[in-house]
Amino acid sequence: MNAKEKLEICFENLRKITEFKPETAIVLGTGLGSFADQIETLETVEYKDLEHFPISTVQGHNGRFIFGKYKGKNVAVMQGRVHYYEGYDIADTVLGVRLLSLCGAKNLILTNAAGGINESFSKGCLMALTDHISSFVPSPLRGENIDFLGERFPDMSEVYDKDLLKTAKNAASENGIKLNFGTYLQAPGPNYETPAEIKMYKLLGADAVGMSTACEAMAAKHAGMKILGISCITNMAAGLGEKTLSHTDVQQTAKKISSDFTLLLRGVLEKI
Ligand code: 6GU
Repeated sequence: MNAKEKLEICFENLRKITEFKPETAIVLGTGLGSFADQIETLETVEYKDLEHFPISTVQGHNGRFIFGKYKGKNVAVMQGRVHYYEGYDIADTVLGVRLLSLCGAKNLILTNAAGGINESFSKGCLMALTDHISSFVPSPLRGENIDFLGERFPDMSEVYDKDLLKTAKNAASENGIKLNFGTYLQAPGPNYETPAEIKMYKLLGADAVGMSTACEAMAAKHAGMKILGISCITNMAAGLGEKTLSHTDVQQTAKKISSDFTLLLRGVLEKI
């Protein structure tokens, strides 16, 4: 079954469960799932209850859509995402974002845990994405174009919305949070990188590295959404910080940053 057929079936099934129309959609990354507590929940839909929807196998990732209100605005949250390294087709990793676009979401906030490459960063800081490098994973738009979402050859010269970046900058300064800006590189994973790979990524212009987000941003841009991306720098990348990297440390640091992260996201949601 191709990506378009899966999307159509998932959308049909989701619409049998809920008619909710979000204005803004939020994807919560590793260790950041608790942001969902900020939302006045109206409905939840487990990924496993949607036929053909991919289910995450990773610890620290729940698998559900939360539909609800934040300060009176309709928001949808994806608590948990699937990653390319789990073995899914790259198009499967963007199915959730596409579904939320079909449900009506115009804005998309993508969040993740990432390793810092820019040496002015340190463990525990936040970075808003100004651009990304996705060349190490296949394009999620590969295959038959889904014409009802967007065009065959979409422009990617401004994936991350300039107005949303300004909004994030203002929300950060109003809440006394330091927000960095930079380029995110999506690596295929699941292993963390070697120090030599990190040197290469740095030469290519990456400020942070992770295993998600760029593909989702591409699919969302294709579908005409306005995108904001926020990385929680849970550790410095290989060769730049601690001797070894572990998923447990990544999860723990993401949890520690989550109060700043929550304040930032609340500030952004209030302004959009
Ligand atoms: Cl250092 N690399 C990748 N690929 N993902 C990460 C990470 C590093 N730190 C958190 N997530």
